[in-house]
Amino acid sequence: MAYSEKVIDHYENPRNVGSFDKDDPSVVTGMVGAPACGDVMKLQLKINESGIIEDARFKTYGCGSAIASSSLVTEWVKGKSVEEAASIKNTDIAEELALPPVKIHCSILAEDAIKAALEEYKTKKA
Ligand code: FES
Ligand code: FES
Repeated sequence: MAYSEKVIDHYENPRNVGSFDKDDPSVVTGMVGAPACGDVMKLQLKINESGIIEDARFKTYGCGSAIASSSLVTEWVKGKSVEEAASIKNTDIAEELALPPVKIHCSILAEDAIKAALEEYKTKKA
């Protein structure tokens, strides 16, 4: 299958790959897996006291579209509030990367990773 240019760009030059120290109190982690294919995505967000996402890292064991989706999402969330980040939809990701229908679940994985990380944020704050 042909990947779009944006997918190839993110795949070849992934942004914000890596991990933060999970013991850093400002760091939350979202770890999700895709039942359809077994791919796994870890997204970490560094969130300041005002609820602004200052930085993001990802590690994805998966296909090119999953790597591109997570790379894109780390760029999108930076500087956003947690509320704004929570409103990022997989359809936005799929559209930006021009993902074909069989690769939609890869973008869903990225949306789920954001949600999982923000879930931890809520739990930590409570
Ligand atoms: Fe990676 Fe789907 S398992 S291509
Ligand atoms: Fe499963 Fe891409 S093929 S995440």
